[in-house]
Formats: sequence, C-alpha cells, structure tokens
Amino acid sequence: MNLVVLYCRAGFEKECAAEICETAEALGVEGYARAKPDSGYVAYHPHDPAAMAALADGLKWRRLVFARQLLFAAPLVSDLPVGDRVTPLLASARSFGTRFRDVWLETADTNEAKELSSFCKKFEKPFRIALDKAGLLAPDDAELPRLHLFFLGSAAAFAAISQPGNASDWPMGIPRLRMPRSAPSRSTQKLAEAFMEFVGGQNASERLRTGQTAVDLGASPGGWTWQLTSRGIHVTAVDNGSMDKALMAGGMVEHLKTDGFHYRPKRPVDWLVCDMVEKPARIAGLVADWVAGKHCKEAIFNLKLPMKKRYEELRHCRGIIEGKLAAAGIEARLRFKQLYHDREEVTGHLRVLKTR
Ligand SMILES: C[S@@+](CC[C@H](N)C(=O)[O-])C[C@H]1O[C@@H](n2cnc3c(N)ncnc32)[C@H](O)[C@@H]1O
Repeated sequence: MNLVVLYCRAGFEKECAAEICETAEALGVEGYARAKPDSGYVAYHPHDPAAMAALADGLKWRRLVFARQLLFAAPLVSDLPVGDRVTPLLASARSFGTRFRDVWLETADTNEAKELSSFCKKFEKPFRIALDKAGLLAPDDAELPRLHLFFLGSAAAFAAISQPGNASDWPMGIPRLRMPRSAPSRSTQKLAEAFMEFVGGQNASERLRTGQTAVDLGASPGGWTWQLTSRGIHVTAVDNGSMDKALMAGGMVEHLKTDGFHYRPKRPVDWLVCDMVEKPARIAGLVADWVAGKHCKEAIFNLKLPMKKRYEELRHCRGIIEGKLAAAGIEARLRFKQLYHDREEVTGHLRVLKTR
C-alpha cells in the first residue's frame, strides 16, 4: 500500500484533499494530496510509505465528510497492454498479501469516466476468473477486504482495498435508492439517504418508529415529511409554501405557515429535520439552539455551502454547534457527510447523548 484514494463528488476535490491532509496530520502523518479539479477523486501520498499502517488504522470512513469511499491503494498501474490487462493488475492485487471477499471494478463519478463503464463490465469477467484461479477470492469470508480496481482510463488503474466496516458498501460509493412514487419531491431521497447513513444499522427501528414526533423546518412540498410519515411519525411541517395534498390527507401532518427560525414546539419532539435554504452558520446556530434548549433528541439538517471557502465554512459551522452545546452542558454526537444526493451542500446529524 502506498497511497490513500478517496472518491468524492466532482467539484469537491479541494475540500476532500484539505480534509484528508488535516486528518492525516492529526494522526502524525505528513504527506500531500493530488486533486485534479472535477476528476471525482483525490489521491493522498504520505511522504513515508511506512506511514500507511497508521493511516489504515486511524482513518475512519464515517468521520470523513467529503469522501464517498476510502481506499488503500498500490501505485498506479499505467500503460496496461491492450492484449493483457489482467497480468499486471493481478500482480498489483497480489502485492496486498491477502485474499479478497470480492472485487469491484469502478471509475470516478464523472461524465468522462462514464464512457469507461462498459469497458469495466466487459473486463470484470476475465479478471474475476483470473483472481479466482490465483486463489485470491474468498467470497465466504466477510472479514476480508474488498478489492477495487479503480480505472482512470482503459490503460491505467489503481488496485486498492477497502476494509469491512470502514468503507462505503455501495459500488463507487453511490447508494442506489428507489424514488418512492408517492413522495412529493425528489429531495425525499436526501433524507432517506441521511437516515441510512446516520441512523441505519441495528438500532434504526428503535430510533425511527411509529408514534414518534418530528418537526420539519422548510418542509414544502413535503419530500422530507413524507419520509417521516411513512415511518409512522407525526410531523409539524413549517413552511410558508404549500404542502402536497395527498400527504396532508394522510392525517399525520400539521402544517404551520410561519418562520422556521422563530418556531419552537410546545413539547419536545424526537426529531428535528431542516432543509431551509439559508446561510449555513444561521442553520448551524438554529439546530444547536434546538438541541441546547432540549426541543429535540436528534436532528438532521442541510448546510448549503458557499462557492468559496467551503471547507472553512463547514469548520466554522461545526465550531458554532460545538460551542453552543458545550455552553449548555450537552454531550452530543455531531457528524457531517456530503451524501450522494447532496449537491452544493453537506448533511449534518446531531444526536444527544447526555445532558447535564
Ligand atoms: C429545498 S426546499 C425544501 C424541500 C423539502 N425538504 C422537500 O423535501 O420537499 C426549502 C424550503 O425552505 C423554505 N424556507 C426558507 N426559509 C424559510 C423560513 N425562514 N421558514 C420556513 N421555511 C423556509 C422554503 O419556502 C422552501 O420551501
């Protein structure tokens, strides 16, 4: 292993690079990131390849905001011969000194890279057969890493691994969600993905269940509210805009045409969700005030990042939330992720752990 490869949203390479450099530095590792604008990925090289062990141990996929996928890679294999791409890539895969539970052939999520996807589909079979013949495939062992061949072109690819539990479980780091037919807006998928990312797993049914209550700030026309009511959760939808008629007819939603910055519920609710388009620092302050004032137990919110200094703005927002919660004596878990369904934004999740 020589470098870390991170997939990201095209256009966010600078932020992804700043984040990996800062995170590696906090682990005591010096290095540099290569981040070509709009390439959809970042390659981080530690100055000392021996530092890869510290990175493999210390980098946590869940804590990285801008990375869709976290891979530990061998050096780029370039000039792949047209007649035999298998041999050099197999040699690169062997250099990890392990077997693999699976192999995925991937590209960046960019328009140019899309042209490579049919090549990847064709190449997958012969490569998989060769990997199996070499005794490197062990599909029944879920503890083993997954092998990724990340193609930059049909003649150049990284062989890389992802570790179970410390990587996205979706090819190319892109969750494929169905668009529910009756949901009033496409942004319903953002909250569906956020629930999967931040609540998911075993205790999802405990933390998102029938009979709970929620407030949706900036709710119109109701895509996020739909995600809540479809789980049996009663929603107060706050927005001057109108709500979808069919959603309102379900009887689970109270619609208040008022300002989301001033509204507070009479009784605490289980969930606050907020998709208002506003300055990120203002949203961060609002969400922190809700949690500090014990108006909700968990919150999911969107921060629409500015065009410039996006990474700095996110740090500023994190600071606002952490500062307000510390002052209120509330211990909470705060995470951000740029979800696949996010565009110029990131999604935040705040969960109260302990109050003083
Ligand atoms: C991106 S849309 C929300 C889409 C919604 N989450 C959905 O899934 O259908 C943003 C909404 O925020 C509302 N909004 C903006 N500022 C607001 C405020 N101060 N109070 C309440 N709603 C606000 C807008 O009216 C708009 O409907």
